[in-house]
Amino acid sequence: MIVLDPQNNVFTLHTKHTTYQMKADQYRVLLHSYYGPRVRDGDLSYLIQYADRGASPNPNEAGHRRDYSLDTLPQEYSTCGVGDYRLPSIEFGPEDGSCLADLRYVNCQLVPGKYSLEGLPAFWGDQGWETLVIRMEDAAAKMAVELYYGVLEERDLITRAVRVINQGEAPVRLYRCASLCLDFQRGDLDFITFDGCHAQERNLHRTPLRHGVQSVESVRGTSSHHHNPFVMLCDREANEDYGLCYGAALLYSGNFLAAAERAHLEHNRLIMGINPYHFCWKLEPGEAFTAPEAAMVCSPSGFGEMSRQFHRAIRENLIHDPFQGKRRPVLINNWEATEFTFDARKLVDIAGAAAPLGMELFVMDDGWFGKRDSDQSGLGDWFVNEEKLPGGLGALVPKIKEMGLSFGIWVEPEMISEDSELYRAHPDWAFGVPGRPHTRGRSQLTLDFSRKDVRDHIYGAIKTVLDSGEISYVKWDMNRSISDVWSAALPADRQGEVFHRYILGVYEMLDQMRQDYPGLLIEGCTGGGGRFDAGMLYYTPQIWCSDNTDAVDRLGIQYGTSFCYPVSAMGAHVSAVPNAQTGRRVSMETRGVVAMSGTFGYEMDLSQTTQEEREIIQTQVAFFKEHYDLIQKGDYYRLTDPFQYGPYTAWEHVSPDKREALVSLVSGPARSSEPFRILRLKGLDPALDYQVNGEGCWSGDLLMEAGWPLPLFRDDYQPMQLYLSAI
Ligand code: GLA
Repeated sequence: MIVLDPQNNVFTLHTKHTTYQMKADQYRVLLHSYYGPRVRDGDLSYLIQYADRGASPNPNEAGHRRDYSLDTLPQEYSTCGVGDYRLPSIEFGPEDGSCLADLRYVNCQLVPGKYSLEGLPAFWGDQGWETLVIRMEDAAAKMAVELYYGVLEERDLITRAVRVINQGEAPVRLYRCASLCLDFQRGDLDFITFDGCHAQERNLHRTPLRHGVQSVESVRGTSSHHHNPFVMLCDREANEDYGLCYGAALLYSGNFLAAAERAHLEHNRLIMGINPYHFCWKLEPGEAFTAPEAAMVCSPSGFGEMSRQFHRAIRENLIHDPFQGKRRPVLINNWEATEFTFDARKLVDIAGAAAPLGMELFVMDDGWFGKRDSDQSGLGDWFVNEEKLPGGLGALVPKIKEMGLSFGIWVEPEMISEDSELYRAHPDWAFGVPGRPHTRGRSQLTLDFSRKDVRDHIYGAIKTVLDSGEISYVKWDMNRSISDVWSAALPADRQGEVFHRYILGVYEMLDQMRQDYPGLLIEGCTGGGGRFDAGMLYYTPQIWCSDNTDAVDRLGIQYGTSFCYPVSAMGAHVSAVPNAQTGRRVSMETRGVVAMSGTFGYEMDLSQTTQEEREIIQTQVAFFKEHYDLIQKGDYYRLTDPFQYGPYTAWEHVSPDKREALVSLVSGPARSSEPFRILRLKGLDPALDYQVNGEGCWSGDLLMEAGWPLPLFRDDYQPMQLYLSAI
């Protein structure tokens, strides 16, 4: 619910459990008064304190009043050059070369429903939303800034976006335009980020805010394996089930910056948005720039509830599920089984082994097109390699379909190999600065997706493939960090737009594909989880979580990912042992338990499996399908933290009506004299009685308060699952 008090210029956003408030004061400076547990209506600006602070200057209207400074007051959208020395949200330069932004409140507008952003991903939905638009202006610079707030009350979700308009007669350069600025009048918070590298994405790191700026960012052109555009701030003592915490996600898949500054008066500012690195957007008179959307959830009761609110909102109000509430298919992918070395027979063998085990979709990964026999050639040549697949997809797809499987393909649209027909014809389509040698990544170059002619060509070629057989799934991959960013199609003074225009180009093509093929399931992938962000999820309902398929490493990767993103978004497969990334061997049962807490599929040569393995797989697939709604749409509870390297990792899915639950657990390395352990469950109805694995009668309160005794595990990384159903 949005409550406006026009007399006092107080704007309050209420969600089910939280309240957010700002106020335009007597100088029309928009101050941030409060964000926290829900409170009753009223002017909360009494929380803002005023005092003369030596080195903090005072705006002109304040005259000789020294207790009023932008540098000490909590700002709703921070400015620069006029007295606030903390992190700026916006920087722009008019023709006179100055760099000041002095934004003052003009008016506000309450709009029913949810705003949308042209060309950018955004939360959506017909019901439960309200929008507030606040307009601010820098009169001298003739610049207007519109702050958008979307409120999804039931989910405690507040979205934000920013539109900057040049109202003057001359061009203005925009150097920085954050999507979110959040000021706290306290600095004693912990900062939580999700960091890693290729094949080790989204490991959780938590540190107390220290004085100065702490940040995570990407300048790789992707949101990156290394840091995620989702961060948290929380009470020092907050944990899964207790304490105040804030999560902020940026719906953006390119260069981002998330920075927290603990400033001079112990207050803290969080800024999130497009990374200012190599960003400079030229706004001609009358033009507007829209910054990507950010989404915030505040939970007064720990991380778990914050995550579940994000999960529900992402599932119901961000992704576009082509299956419209129906089950997505269990898939078999040939990559780890064959890499580039396969022919039609091999693919048919793998598919033939998968069908009787209950799998539903065969995905032909990299290597099917152009001269793609290794990762050094072929990218850009999106036509079937008929040496490997005689007769093309027209011959292969019907064979796969006859077995009862649907068919999917891998593509990497944004890339080009120098050894390709496309590069020989259009070398200038790849990023590269004239006079400088190329920087390669995985032996490939990046196509200039800021260019429409380049995108149109690639989309046309891929569309021809999609139209040549019945294809119901596309894995959209992207396998390098971007470098040599320079577009032959833009003048020198617009090169600072290329990184952002690139991502807009990716979004545009994904949107086109989504609209041309409404039933098509697109899975995002960037060398595994290098672009696992809320922006991508708008176009691709699932994303390959990591190239690391080792079940033990995946416990941590999926745990970190779950803080913002739902299980139904996490691409997870069972692969062969010894694992290709770690060399580790764990049982098929353990691999299955971990992968089925994601989108679930297999990525191995099933034609080479033993009868015993096939029986296990068949049971796993049937179990997953039976409990699909519970796992994919239920509430997710983290029961332990794998980064604490405890004796086991456990998690739980609970149905919304709490009548069903699935507890999954993987033990740690085996040890002698294993202590007795009891696992306390979460999220059940204390008043209900449950059967556990079809037996007994246990009350919800007993299982949550007293717990469930664990068996003594006799080997490393043993799995356990408990299925609970209310009697
Ligand atoms: C990336 C993906 C893998 C696979 C290969 C193919 O690494 O993450 O899953 O598709 O590319 O080259």
